[in-house]
Amino acid sequence: MVYLLWLSLCLLCLSLHSLLTTSSPYPNSSTQLCHEGERYAMLEFKNNLAIDDWNFDCASWGQVPYAKTASWKAAGSDCCQWDGVTCNPLTGHVVGLDLSCGKLQGTIPMNSTLFTLRHLRSLNLAFNDFSPSRISPEFGRFQRLKRLNLSNCFFTGKVPLTIAQLPQLASLDLSQHLFSALEMPDFNVIVRNLTGLRELYLDSVNVTSEATTLLSLTNLSSLMALSLSRCNFFGPLPNLLDGEVPSWLFNLPSLKMLYLANNQFSGQLTIIEDVASNNTTRLEYIDLSGNMTQGSIPNSIFELVSLVFLNLSSNNLSGVIELDMFCKLKNLTHLNLSHNGLSVLTKSSSTISSNVAACPRLEILRCSSCNITEFPDFLRTLENLIDLDLSNNKIHGDIPKWAKDIGKDSLSYLNLSGNFLTGGLDLQWTNLQFIDLHSNMFEGPVPIPPPFTIVLLASNNNFVGEIPTAICTLDSLQILDLSYNSLSGEIPRCFKNATSPLSVLDLRSNKLHGTLPSSFGEYCSLQTLALNGNQLGGQLPPSLLSCQELEVLDVGNNNFKGTFPYWLGSLPELIVLILRSNSFHGNVGTSKGKYLFSKLHVFDISNNSFNSTLPSSFLHCFKDMMNSIKNRGELKYLGQYYYEDSVTLKVKGYNLKFVRIPTVITTIDVSNNQLKGEIPEVIGDLVSLWWLNLAQNNFIGRIPPSLASLSELESLDLSSNKLAGQIPEELASLTSLEFFNVSQNRLVGPIPQGQQFATFENNSYLGNLRLCGNPLSKKCGDDEAPSQPPLRMVQDGSDFEYEGPFGWTIVRIGYGCGTTIGLVAGYYIVIVRNPVWLLRLARRLKNASN
Ligand SMILES: *[C@@H]1O[C@H](CO)[C@@H](O)[C@H](O)[C@H]1NC(C)=O
Ligand SMILES: *[C@@H]1O[C@H](CO)[C@@H](O)[C@H](O)[C@H]1NC(C)=O
Ligand SMILES: *[C@@H]1O[C@H](CO)[C@@H](O)[C@H](O)[C@H]1NC(C)=O
Ligand SMILES: *[C@@H]1O[C@H](CO)[C@@H](O)[C@H](O)[C@H]1NC(C)=O
Ligand SMILES: *[C@@H]1O[C@H](CO)[C@@H](O)[C@H](O)[C@H]1NC(C)=O
Ligand SMILES: *[C@@H]1O[C@H](CO)[C@@H](O)[C@H](O)[C@H]1NC(C)=O
Ligand SMILES: *[C@@H]1O[C@H](CO)[C@@H](O)[C@H](O)[C@H]1NC(C)=O
Ligand SMILES: *[C@@H]1O[C@H](CO)[C@@H](O)[C@H](O)[C@H]1NC(C)=O
Ligand SMILES: *[C@@H]1O[C@H](CO)[C@@H](O)[C@H](O)[C@H]1NC(C)=O
Ligand SMILES: *[C@@H]1O[C@H](CO)[C@@H](O)[C@H](O)[C@H]1NC(C)=O
Ligand SMILES: *[C@@H]1O[C@H](CO)[C@@H](O)[C@H](O)[C@H]1NC(C)=O
Ligand SMILES: *[C@@H]1O[C@H](CO)[C@@H](O)[C@H](O)[C@H]1NC(C)=O
Repeated sequence: MVYLLWLSLCLLCLSLHSLLTTSSPYPNSSTQLCHEGERYAMLEFKNNLAIDDWNFDCASWGQVPYAKTASWKAAGSDCCQWDGVTCNPLTGHVVGLDLSCGKLQGTIPMNSTLFTLRHLRSLNLAFNDFSPSRISPEFGRFQRLKRLNLSNCFFTGKVPLTIAQLPQLASLDLSQHLFSALEMPDFNVIVRNLTGLRELYLDSVNVTSEATTLLSLTNLSSLMALSLSRCNFFGPLPNLLDGEVPSWLFNLPSLKMLYLANNQFSGQLTIIEDVASNNTTRLEYIDLSGNMTQGSIPNSIFELVSLVFLNLSSNNLSGVIELDMFCKLKNLTHLNLSHNGLSVLTKSSSTISSNVAACPRLEILRCSSCNITEFPDFLRTLENLIDLDLSNNKIHGDIPKWAKDIGKDSLSYLNLSGNFLTGGLDLQWTNLQFIDLHSNMFEGPVPIPPPFTIVLLASNNNFVGEIPTAICTLDSLQILDLSYNSLSGEIPRCFKNATSPLSVLDLRSNKLHGTLPSSFGEYCSLQTLALNGNQLGGQLPPSLLSCQELEVLDVGNNNFKGTFPYWLGSLPELIVLILRSNSFHGNVGTSKGKYLFSKLHVFDISNNSFNSTLPSSFLHCFKDMMNSIKNRGELKYLGQYYYEDSVTLKVKGYNLKFVRIPTVITTIDVSNNQLKGEIPEVIGDLVSLWWLNLAQNNFIGRIPPSLASLSELESLDLSSNKLAGQIPEELASLTSLEFFNVSQNRLVGPIPQGQQFATFENNSYLGNLRLCGNPLSKKCGDDEAPSQPPLRMVQDGSDFEYEGPFGWTIVRIGYGCGTTIGLVAGYYIVIVRNPVWLLRLARRLKNASN
């Protein structure tokens, strides 16, 4: 992915470069057009803003971050020739200013000289960082302004009413795709006045208004494009007014583009019904995805003959609809019906099929979760299909033979995941780049991906045989996930000089044997190497060091041997290292060197035969664990766009399978080795640790009181060692601690009382004959009465599964999306069957993101 982005970025750079070098509107510089006052105004404006090298992702919007103002110079230059400036060739006045994606940072106060540029007709400041300032009311002073573009500028607060005083405004773009704290409570006042508007984009501006305020749009007879996605409109969509005006949209005869996605509208899809019944509509683009409406799709939708783009995904639409009816819309290229309650029929009833020939223009067909039971017949006619998503349906059986002719030379995205497809598979589409087959019942050998494949996801099928060596010849492959199949044989040697920019190789839970190829090649670009749960052996090849971008290395549950691969410490990005359940032995530690293992968050070497001490110097390497995790910002997960890393960790005696790995998780598990010596005091410096497991080793000495510094610690397992002395009183201050096990040691004296310690039971202390105090029956003085821990309810969770007494239970607690019925049901299972700490974990993950 990174590689692709770079490539496209470079192409953009090139094209931008050629544009900039040739597109100056007044190549003839012998005459100075520039007005002195305007030159001064622009220079002042520039000087009051910083150039910020933090460049957010303009590239995704086809922009290249570039400090246009950097070239603005005072002395002797014609300001009409500055980057981003356009002048009227006759008058010399500045009429256009386009500083979009210009790396500007700062605020635009009321007295900014920008507002003296009275002749401006077009002002574009999109993709700059003006946080945390408001949009100044002075923007209302540009009496000649036709186009105002303040999109993605990180403005906060209310949009000023003065915007409504721009008499000539034809295009207004305040949309905020990256981050939004912009509000427009006066939507109807502002919009009603802007009668000349042809384009209005307010995506993610918080309007918080009833849908009926959309009636203020009825004045805008020139409106061609309306985009109000995620604006917080709610309530039923306006339809009839006074029983006279048929529909608010009928007065918008020019409207071609209607984007109202992701609001909280309710009611039925009447807009479509009403629009369609009037022949004046020119609508070409309709996006009503996300929480819009319910009911069934009205047949009148097939009257919208100009439609090119129709997205009705993620609504509550229900009912039965025949897919090939959409072929009546001859110009339709993009159809998305995914994630509704629809039952989409793929066999046309006889009455229609005669009328409906084919959908020759359809390029994108997305129908995920459409209750489809058969491979749609009408796909046969789609010669130009580029994108096909039939995931999460109920399609059984083999893929029909004719399927390979669908978009034979055009298909680039194919998602058939989450069905019941069987048989073998022949991927003969020449242009296929993205292939998702996961969670089906495909059999036979892994299909050989076409030459341009970038992503192949084929986990959870019944593929057998060896990994095809043809995979090494794919120049573009970035993500290969063949986990949870029955693949056998060895990992192909050819990986060592594979030319592809592979960033994810996931082969977990197969039956692979042999050793790792002795070299992953000079150009290893792996970020994830997951080989857990195979029968691989031998040593880890030092060539892994060429994988300088490696973040996740999971070779657990294999037969790898050898000493501790300390040299992995110099992989600068390594976050997750899992060596669990292999035959590693000898010393744990590193050679001397700075910044070894400095980013590590998950360190699991349990169930091996390490028999050294746990050196202080080694623990001191874990620099990132020494940083407090508070305020790390948004909850992030490891992984790529199409692939999320997952991992199984043993926590508190349970196997927790993280379907996604939140980056906040920090854990050290060295249990079940023969480690000896004392527990190093410096372990108390790893202040962000969540889970620490030193159980089943030969540690001696005291429990270091420094553990009390681990304020995030949730689970501490020191059981089955030879620890002596008292349990440090200081540990009582660990208010996050939920699991504590010091059983089977040689501890003596009173158990700390109060706080979390009131919640631990007998079995935390078993096998320490000389411990006393609550909860043990052996008294050693006055005890405080144990208080019951409050049972806290949790609103949010994370996706994980856990292995409880009844085997694997899938506890898929959707993270962060609030309170739908499904989620509540999810919690219910947790409450009834799982320990309370699972819930707390879920909440903790949520809190870590705030
Ligand atoms: C520069 O432009 C002006 C006005 O367009 C024109 O009259 C003049 O001939 C041009 N000079 C040169 C050197 O091209
Ligand atoms: C704008 O006002 C601020 C004080 O509010 C002042 O410091 C600044 O110099 C003024 N800028 C201009 C260009 O007048
Ligand atoms: C606003 O500017 C951005 C960046 O140049 C551009 O992507 C977007 O299309 C513009 N909006 C309008 C309505 O032209
Ligand atoms: C509406 O626009 C006119 C100029 O076109 C202006 O005089 C008037 O103040 C505006 N109304 C509001 C409410 O801003
Ligand atoms: C939108 O604004 C309303 C009213 O000001 C506020 O209650 C709500 O929290 C805001 N929503 C978002 C997502 O900011
Ligand atoms: C169609 O729209 C026009 C206005 O563009 C309106 O005058 C007419 O009544 C509408 N027809 C129907 C059947 O609603
Ligand atoms: C719309 O116009 C077409 C001809 O352009 C006509 O066949 C059809 O009956 C009209 N539909 C309505 C509802 O008026
Ligand atoms: C739908 O609404 C729910 C709750 O209002 C929200 O959590 C969810 O993100 C919305 N979905 C979309 C696609 O907008
Ligand atoms: C379909 O698209 C073509 C151009 O691609 C256009 O000429 C034609 O008018 C469109 N049909 C309708 C019904 O809008
Ligand atoms: C899915 O389709 C089957 C028939 O194929 C039907 O019995 C079932 O009710 C449908 N489910 C939904 C949710 O519509
Ligand atoms: C890998 O290298 C070997 C020899 O070094 C060569 O024979 C083979 O063709 C190479 N394979 C690829 C895919 O480049
Ligand atoms: C560790 O175990 C190995 C055998 O696996 C043994 O040779 C070595 O002496 C042990 N080291 C220590 C420090 O006990």
